[in-house]
Amino acid sequence: MTTMYDLVIRNADVVTASERFSCDIGVKDGIVVALGRHLDAARRELDATGLLALPGGIDAHCHLDQPMPDGLKMADDFHTGTRAAVCGGTTTVIPFAAQAKGQSLKSAVDDYHRRANGRAVTDYAFHLIVSDPTPEVLERELPELIAAGYTSFKIYMTYDDLKLSDREILEVMDVARRNEALVMVHAENSDCIAWLTDKLTEAGKHAPKYHAVSRPGVIEREATHRAIALSELVDVPILIVHVSGEDAIEQIEWAQRRGLNIYAETCPQYLYLSAADLGHEDGYHGAKCVCSPPPRDASSQKAVWSALKRGVFSVFSSDHAPFSYDDPQGKKPGGKEVSFEHIPNGIPGIETRLPLLFDGVSRGTLSLNKFVELTSLNPAKLYGLYPRKGTIAIGADADIVLWDPRKQVTIHNDALHHNVDYTPYEGRSVQGWPQHCLSRGELLVESGRYLGPEAGRGRFLAAGKPQFVDL
Ligand code: URP
Ligand code: ZN
Ligand code: ZN
Repeated sequence: MTTMYDLVIRNADVVTASERFSCDIGVKDGIVVALGRHLDAARRELDATGLLALPGGIDAHCHLDQPMPDGLKMADDFHTGTRAAVCGGTTTVIPFAAQAKGQSLKSAVDDYHRRANGRAVTDYAFHLIVSDPTPEVLERELPELIAAGYTSFKIYMTYDDLKLSDREILEVMDVARRNEALVMVHAENSDCIAWLTDKLTEAGKHAPKYHAVSRPGVIEREATHRAIALSELVDVPILIVHVSGEDAIEQIEWAQRRGLNIYAETCPQYLYLSAADLGHEDGYHGAKCVCSPPPRDASSQKAVWSALKRGVFSVFSSDHAPFSYDDPQGKKPGGKEVSFEHIPNGIPGIETRLPLLFDGVSRGTLSLNKFVELTSLNPAKLYGLYPRKGTIAIGADADIVLWDPRKQVTIHNDALHHNVDYTPYEGRSVQGWPQHCLSRGELLVESGRYLGPEAGRGRFLAAGKPQFVDL
């Protein structure tokens, strides 16, 4: 039979960031080629009655197989990480090619391509992490890499092996301004953390819960304000990543009201976890929730939900940083329960990111359009992947996720597809879960079952210039 379509999704209730409409979706060669009623028969048909057809999620902040200091290793590589991503409705990931101090950026990128190549089951772009902005990096490497499709880079205001001085931050922001790239900022004040950490450890306070005490909201607020001021000085948009609560939100809203292009991202941990999840004086299980910035309290969770609704945040990512708990290369370095400042930072969440936010849609807190905007359209635009990714439209890649908005799921690690031995959301119930997931028209997950596509089918996406969305 010769047909116009490789696949037709029938009776789709399509939701984009701005519309909701019913139609059939025709797919040819991995691209959406028709949206209409009563499309001709295709080689393959999928009935979407009762389901929502959403653009595949873009996880614009996740760490996969990122090289770690000696003795530590991330639990997910590009295969297991993207496998978990697609099972949670994410069809594009943007992890980080991290420059070590003394390393050229180009060699970090080459190394990261080797890690992804032949492993990813879905499409990926790279952010860069700039930790050593030498004249060579600023004048030659960064402009060349931006032109080659790496148009966003993260900088750190903390962590000894990654942090930049204010002067270096200005230099990097200036390169971004001149080359139309987007700087993502990890905003925590390094000296304040070091000072508090010394005080706590001198007082014999070593439990995981002191991780949160060593990084209170005020030190995130100060660094957020400083990053905003530096970007105002350079006159360049920036994006503050993994914003944890009301202190930083206050600064970001203040800047946005002043007309500054300060974008912001938040993550599920700041909606659902709190410092109490880092445990008590005794017991080490709180290490499972050690991430930076740390989760705060119930009032901060409310502030994050409200800021998502108000449009303060443009992007919702997982910050999946996978370290297994019972693992000498993970949360128990060398097999030991260590003092809080030596616990590797980061938590898993690439598969649970979308269902956890969707639960807010089910409860009426967020609209479906807002959900799509935060999880697909805006990341596609800001990170130069739109219109190929981020929406369901003629000419876009057929990255489509069919959600069952009524499905009740209690999250258990056993049922997840990452390679981590726990989820911080164990036992939490949500309403709404992805049933079928298509990447470039290929069904990777069917009725919630991972079909085991070929590792390496995922393609590298060279990113275009950021498209700055409205604030
Ligand atoms: O604790 C976190 N967030 N770990 C991942 C690295 C980062 O700073 O995003
Ligand atoms: Zn960070
Ligand atoms: Zn991160």
